[in-house]
Amino acid sequence: MFRLGHLSDVHLGPVPSLRPSDLVTKRVVGYANWRRTRSYSLGSDALEKVVSDLRAHRPDHIAVTGDLTNMATRKEFENARTWLEALGPPEHVTAIPGNHDAYVPGAHERFRRLWAPWMASDDDAAFVGPALFPFMRRKGHVALIGVSSAVATAPFMATGRVGASQTKRLCTLLDEAGAAGLFRVILIHHPPKLIDPTSAWRKLTDGRRFRRAVQQHGAELVLHGHEHVRMTTAIKGRNGPLPAIGVPSGSATMRGGTRAAGYALHEIVEEDGGYTLTVIHRAIGRSGEIGEMARSTYKSPF
Ligand SMILES: [Fe+2]
Ligand SMILES: [Fe+2]
Repeated sequence: MFRLGHLSDVHLGPVPSLRPSDLVTKRVVGYANWRRTRSYSLGSDALEKVVSDLRAHRPDHIAVTGDLTNMATRKEFENARTWLEALGPPEHVTAIPGNHDAYVPGAHERFRRLWAPWMASDDDAAFVGPALFPFMRRKGHVALIGVSSAVATAPFMATGRVGASQTKRLCTLLDEAGAAGLFRVILIHHPPKLIDPTSAWRKLTDGRRFRRAVQQHGAELVLHGHEHVRMTTAIKGRNGPLPAIGVPSGSATMRGGTRAAGYALHEIVEEDGGYTLTVIHRAIGRSGEIGEMARSTYKSPF
């Protein structure tokens, strides 16, 4: 059995004070939003509880699906790197960026450089240059494929985009891993499809192309964050619905309900010529204690 931990949207703080030059950028909007809706900080109680519970379940690997920062400042990127180092070595942890990590133009270079070891393909493990997407890492019978939907957007927007060339390469990686009989896990920050039509300002703008690629080339699981809520949707696979699982923010301050700080464990077992996947959501309940909130089982091929 392979146990994969999935954590997302930790939005590490503290948010630094803004410089006068930031007043002309999108960061002003971000700062106002952050003050209004969030009080996450590096090493928040909730995040510490979530990470220690995750560790206690001894995952074989941990995936972090983006939004490690709030406004993509240099200090936040450095904090996030320190946090990644504490979470685990690159052989044990894989990360991808979210829209907050690409908050302003130029932020890409920071995550591609500072977080590269956690975003490298197996081929690049010996020499890590700037991270490139998509990348693929093989862990036993599991292939982790990291996609970036992180793009700088206009103020008040939180959309994502994968793009044509990344999608093309994703198809090749899915074919390669599929031919090897691996359990293919795609990591992407934005959900492949939003259910709420009023949320267009935060959707994956080329979601249709992404879903078509996954449908045609196959995958066993899609993991995402972004919505800060526990959610399950599906992409129509060739043999049935393919699960897309979203987790809440790992550092949310709420207790209880689908938005409470939490994470998921994905237990992958190879059997009967396919795989059985058990998804276990754990989060902080009203009492402040962390516990199991939901569990579901899937059988591939999808
Ligand atoms: Fe987020
Ligand atoms: Fe996000």
